[in-house]
Amino acid sequence: MKKLFVETYGCQMNVADSEVVASIMNDAGYELTDNAADADVIFVNTCSIRDNAERRVKNRIQEFKSLKKKNPELKVGILGCMAERLKETLLKDQEFVDIVAGPDAYRDLPSMLDKVKDGRRMANVVLSLEETYDDIVPVRLDKNGVSGFISIMRGCDNYCAYCVVPFTRGHERSRNPHTIVDEARDMVAKGYKEVTLLGQNVNSYSWNENGETVNFARLLKMVAAVSPLLRVRFSTSHPKDISDELIMTIASTPNICNSIHLPVQSGSTAVLQRMKRSYTREWYLNRIETIKKHIPGCGLSTDVIAGFCGETEEEHRETVSLMKEVGYDFAFMFMYSERPDTLAARKLVDDVPNEVKNRRLQEIIALQQESSLKSNKRDLGKVFTVLTEGRSKRSATRMSGRTDTNKVVVFESKDIKTGEYVDVRITDCTAATLIGEIV
Ligand code: 5AD
Ligand code: SF4
Repeated sequence: MKKLFVETYGCQMNVADSEVVASIMNDAGYELTDNAADADVIFVNTCSIRDNAERRVKNRIQEFKSLKKKNPELKVGILGCMAERLKETLLKDQEFVDIVAGPDAYRDLPSMLDKVKDGRRMANVVLSLEETYDDIVPVRLDKNGVSGFISIMRGCDNYCAYCVVPFTRGHERSRNPHTIVDEARDMVAKGYKEVTLLGQNVNSYSWNENGETVNFARLLKMVAAVSPLLRVRFSTSHPKDISDELIMTIASTPNICNSIHLPVQSGSTAVLQRMKRSYTREWYLNRIETIKKHIPGCGLSTDVIAGFCGETEEEHRETVSLMKEVGYDFAFMFMYSERPDTLAARKLVDDVPNEVKNRRLQEIIALQQESSLKSNKRDLGKVFTVLTEGRSKRSATRMSGRTDTNKVVVFESKDIKTGEYVDVRITDCTAATLIGEIV
C-alpha cells in the first residue's frame, strides 16, 4: 500500500472531512502515516475563516516543498476551504502543489492522483448541491476511540456579512438521516461513547421522506435512541432558529448533552444587523432565558467577533454587557478579519483600527476568564458523571474527561480506563478545568 499523510486545519467539520478523505483514499490503496517524510501523498485540509488561518497554512506548506525536493515522486494536495477560495491561483502561486480540491471534490481524489502521475497539475473546485458523502464510512482519525464526529449536513445559506463559508462550502444540504443513524450504530459497535453531530447550522437540518420531514430535533432523538450509553452533542447552532422544540428535546432526553454552543457574535442589535445575523440582542437573550429555564445548569458557550465594521465603543460595551448577563462557561473570541468577496468586504468599511480591535478582544477575553472561573466555582461540591478521554496531559496519575455540560474534569485514578463513565465530586478548579475525586 502507498502512504498518505493528512494534516487538518480549521473547524471540526474539516476533521470530519479528513476522515472521509482517509476512507476514500483507503479504498484506493493508501494507508495513513503519521510521518510526512515517509509519505507518497500529502494532503493539507485547509481553513479560510480568518486571514491568519490562511497564513499559517501557507507557511506550513513550505516544509512540504522541501520534502518534495528530496522526493520528486511525492504528490502534494491542498484540500478544503482555501483550495475552494483560491482555486487555480493556488497552483500558480505554489509551484510544488500538484492537486487543488474543494470540499465537494473528494471522491475525485484517487483519479486526480492518477492523472498527475506524469507531472500534470490539477484543480477540482466544483461545488455540489447534493454531495454529502453519505455512503462513506469515515476512517476515524481521533486517537482515543471514545468521541467522534458525524457530519449531518454541508454548506451554508446564511451569508453572514463577515463569513467566507458559503463561498468555500457552497449551498446547504442535509444528509439522509438513516445513514447518520447507521454511522452512529457503527461507532457504538466500535466502542465509541460520544458523537458530535456537525453542520454549519444544524438547526436548519431537514430531510423529507414519504411526505414526512425529519427536522433537527427529531434527528437528535433518532441518534440518541441508538444507545442510552452514547452521549450526543451537536455543533453549531444559529440563534435565529434554535427552537423551543429543540430545547425541550434536549431537556427531556437524558443522553443528549446539556450543552449548547450558541454563537452570538455581538451583543449589539445594530452590529448584528450589519452582520446580517437576522436576530436582535433581545431575541438572543430570550433564547438563553428559555434554555436556562428548561435545562437548568446547561453548559453555554459562544463565539464573539471584536471590531466588526463600524463597531463603536458603545456597541462593544453592549457585547461586554451581554456576555456578563449570559455568563458563558466558555467562548471563542476573535478579531474581525475581512474576507474577500463577503458582503462586508464589498459593502462595508473595515474601519476599526487594529489596536482598538485588539484592545476590545483582550477586554472580552479577560471577562470570559472571570466568567469561566465563576462558572467552575459554582460546580464545587457537585457530583458529575464524567466520560473519561485519557490520562491527563499534566500528570500521569490523573485521568481527564468531560461532564455532560462539556467541562473538562481531572481526577486521581490508577485503574480507570479511557471511555468509562465515572462519578466525580468536584473539589477544586481553575478557569479551564474542574478537579475532583471519585465518589
Ligand atoms: N473574522 C473573524 N471571525 C470570524 N468568524 C467567522 N468569520 C470571521 C471573520 N471574518 C468567527 C465567527 C464564527 C467562528 C467560527 O469564526 O465567530 O462563529
Ligand atoms: Fe471550517 Fe469555516 Fe475554516 Fe472552512 S472556513 S475550515 S468551514 S472554519
